[in-house]
Amino acid sequence: HAGPVVLPSLLLCDFGNLEREVRRLEEAGVKALHLDVMDGVFVPNLTYGMPIVEGLRRLTDMPLDVHLMIQRPEKYLRQFHSAGADVLTVHIEAVEDAQAILGQIRDLDMGAGIAINPSTPMTRFEAALPYADLALVMSVEAGFGGQSFHEIALERMAHVRRVAQKNLLIEVDGGINTKTIARASSAGATLFVVGSAIFGQSDYGTAVSELSALAKG
Ligand code: DX5
Ligand code: ZN
Repeated sequence: HAGPVVLPSLLLCDFGNLEREVRRLEEAGVKALHLDVMDGVFVPNLTYGMPIVEGLRRLTDMPLDVHLMIQRPEKYLRQFHSAGADVLTVHIEAVEDAQAILGQIRDLDMGAGIAINPSTPMTRFEAALPYADLALVMSVEAGFGGQSFHEIALERMAHVRRVAQKNLLIEVDGGINTKTIARASSAGATLFVVGSAIFGQSDYGTAVSELSALAKG
């Protein structure tokens, strides 16, 4: 994908009516979904796992971008692949050997992403970038939707843009809305994860178009 892509985070959607939510997002022009998997250990919140990924896979052909906020993600790579994930992102804080795990994700024919929280030093993250297809620069501490954007993500994305391989995708996640998305785009992000700024609106189509236009600059 060349242009900016807005990915709704299925954290704040209506889980009592997942099929309707997927259709509404498709009608809103959404091209891919971001799935937030939390284990209550790596982050102080619990969401869902493989069965929801598998259910969404049967509902849509859109790429599924799966953000693993779990300890020991290496134990579940194969299961998320079978469930239908297209991209798997693991946190640098949750893995010992990032190079090995990113290699395992690629060997399963998925895109390999590495994520970093705002409070984590960049050294190990930067060393892992050559083995990744996607860098997820968190603009909130992972765990909850609806938090406000940390400015540190802007300088981090600009830095990654400068030092990493040119084809590395840069994704930003947390507090992205009509006030922050243009700056995130200028800093180098092309993938924008959005929770509350879509699911807090009654008309997803308007929300997605406004955000996409602002991301294009
Ligand atoms: C936070 C998640 C995000 C979050 C985004 O841990 O990774 O995807 O749900 O939600 P907003 O856009 O509300 O910050
Ligand atoms: Zn996320």
